[in-house]
Amino acid sequence: MNSMYQDLEKVLFSKEQIAERIKEIAKTIDNDYQDKRPIMVAILKGSVMFYADLLREMQIHAEMDFMAISSYGNSTKSSGEVKMVKDLDRSIEGRDIIIVEDIVDTGYTLKYLKSTLKTRNPASIKVCTLLNKPARRIVDIEPDYCCFNVGDEFVVGYGLDYAQLYRNLPLIGVLKKEVYSK
Ligand code: PRP
Repeated sequence: MNSMYQDLEKVLFSKEQIAERIKEIAKTIDNDYQDKRPIMVAILKGSVMFYADLLREMQIHAEMDFMAISSYGNSTKSSGEVKMVKDLDRSIEGRDIIIVEDIVDTGYTLKYLKSTLKTRNPASIKVCTLLNKPARRIVDIEPDYCCFNVGDEFVVGYGLDYAQLYRNLPLIGVLKKEVYSK
């Protein structure tokens, strides 16, 4: 069998550790938004697993909506040029927004998202991310809620991909160098 697991150098966060941390974050959000009804905005595709599990742990009323962002071309990510490929379905005017990401890396995506959504006059915008990689940050921006900080390693799984693969791993791991340097 050509298993995804044989491509991993190590496991960073197990299924159980992820579930535990998501419960804590969901509780914090429930507390912070007690009498509110936030719109939870998933940024496709990486955040899908996190989003689905986080929302199921929350007890407050929340709405779902989705956005997709892409960098221009292949290697221009570091230039910070991003574009929207799928917009929200509904107006966010006067609403509390929580952007749900899988990872904050350079911060360019988040900067673009926050400034774009701000022009639509929401009541508030916060960011909840599964992973935060401060070592790679270029833009001065920080998530409001974060499950785990990671170092500058090639992380995959639980939504995060390498060449569109490994998203369906139930854990977060580090990819063996030989896999991506081929
Ligand atoms: C990833 C991730 C964030 C962004 C973070 O998306 O989901 O949206 O990159 O990087 P940044 O902080 O450097 O901007 P990607 O473009 O890989 O798309 P995906 O979610 O479909 O995997």
